[in-house]
Amino acid sequence: MTAQDIHADRILVLDFGSPFTQLIARRIRGIGVFCEIHPFDVGEDVIRAFNPRGIILSGAPEVAQFSDMPAVPQWVFDLQLPVLGLGYGMHAMAQQFGGQVQGAAERQFATVRVDVIAANALLDGVRDTATAVSPSGLDVLISHGEQVTVLPLGFNAIASTESCAIAGIADATRNYYGLQFHPEETQTTQGLAIISRFVLDICGCAGLWTPANIVEDAIAKVRAQVGNRKVLLGLSGGVDSSVVAALLHKAIGDQLTCVFVDHGLLRLHEGDQVMRMFAQNMGVKVIRVDAEQRYLDLLKGVTDPETKRKIIGRTFIEIFDEESSKLEGIDFLAQGTIYPDVIESASIKGGKSVAVKSHHNVGGLPEDMKFELVEPLRELFKDEVRKLGVELGLPHDMVYRHPFPGPGLGVRILGEVTKEYADMLRLADHIFIEELRKAGWYDKTSQAFAVFLPVRSVGVVNEERRYAWVVSLRAIETIDFMTARWAHLPYELLETVSGRIITEIEGISRVVYDVSSKPPATIEWE
Ligand code: XMP
Repeated sequence: MTAQDIHADRILVLDFGSPFTQLIARRIRGIGVFCEIHPFDVGEDVIRAFNPRGIILSGAPEVAQFSDMPAVPQWVFDLQLPVLGLGYGMHAMAQQFGGQVQGAAERQFATVRVDVIAANALLDGVRDTATAVSPSGLDVLISHGEQVTVLPLGFNAIASTESCAIAGIADATRNYYGLQFHPEETQTTQGLAIISRFVLDICGCAGLWTPANIVEDAIAKVRAQVGNRKVLLGLSGGVDSSVVAALLHKAIGDQLTCVFVDHGLLRLHEGDQVMRMFAQNMGVKVIRVDAEQRYLDLLKGVTDPETKRKIIGRTFIEIFDEESSKLEGIDFLAQGTIYPDVIESASIKGGKSVAVKSHHNVGGLPEDMKFELVEPLRELFKDEVRKLGVELGLPHDMVYRHPFPGPGLGVRILGEVTKEYADMLRLADHIFIEELRKAGWYDKTSQAFAVFLPVRSVGVVNEERRYAWVVSLRAIETIDFMTARWAHLPYELLETVSGRIITEIEGISRVVYDVSSKPPATIEWE
């Protein structure tokens, strides 16, 4: 079999700041087509070099006023490629071709039924179950904000709802399409079919972007970059660094050395599990550094969350630095950078993000290290990284594990970190996760964990008075971890967990459940 170029057919997602932009790209990738997100003001030469087969124009940020938004750059249309505008993307395109758009004070989203009112290549044959009222309908998530009120030249209306006469537009000659609704959202039940229609049929892309092909491509690239030289990887046990380890091991075998810094703030048995999986089972060269005592000494008496984070992050880098300087002949440092990290550092989010906590990325690069970088996941979204992990033979439970912060239990033990607290918290967390899994709730929550509260409370356990510590359980549901809802776990489940924690862990006398959503609360307590 000749190697296929899995990047040959690609789609450009031009970002005008919508919170759904990444979702659009993830859907396209899920269909098996490579795509990249670029900000609307990216240079024309970058896009000409990128050479897409079609362009999707994203929506706008929720708070943006139509009149303040930038126009679609002329080069988008000069390229003579199929274009699909979503929300703002549709409105901007309509206005630029002579249509009219009526503003709205506020944008709201609702699920409604739209009628497909004219034959067109985008929606023909894509239908939800017909109802008597709406025989040609689609159930969609639509925005009640601005609307196209006068069609642009060369376009016809292809979809409408009761309150929005022009909910979709098409110019079949130039292959330009616009939708008022959001096919990337799961509430639009045929959304994936619509995006497939655009990228596969209208743009003519082949579906080569599959996990097996991505692995093959990444291996070839790593081999070409690294040759017979040596690579160092900071292994944390998290999904990204684990997938990098599995991938590099497959690509370059013994030329890979991993350093696993065990800061003693990991979950129950986690350090041993990492060693078992990578060193024992897979034969990866892993140097485990047992740094628990060093961390405990440094964290002694430290109660301020930011100071704790800084100590944990800085020490990680110091240890990693010490270990790597003992190794000879290393030329490359591998990192689990993924595509959202790449986009976010080059995004147009309007500078509104506030640094709430200093996020410390375990595996962060010490600035004075003279290594070349190997970043085999740079093009991938998290869901793709997971699929790759499964493709590479990592256990499903490991690959689909909830995220765990770099500073570990250090930010889940409020105030001073001690070994005693960490040991109790590890057990409580283990019980919580075990019961969640048993009850089938683990995969329904995005993240769940226990938090150690250094306050004491009275209880009576086995007829004995106990004055002991408090643990809070936290479970959330989220898509992007930017906002999150506390999970509405069944009372019976909470009861089982709380009962087990209090009877099985002597130092704990009370369990509470955190019912704070984000915002305003953050997911972690510190
Ligand atoms: P917050 O607490 O900011 O958490 O709402 C959002 C997500 O980020 C994770 N998190 C971290 N991950 N290093 C990490 O690698 C960190 O310092 C860190 N702090 C928070 C948190 O677990 C949640 O998934």
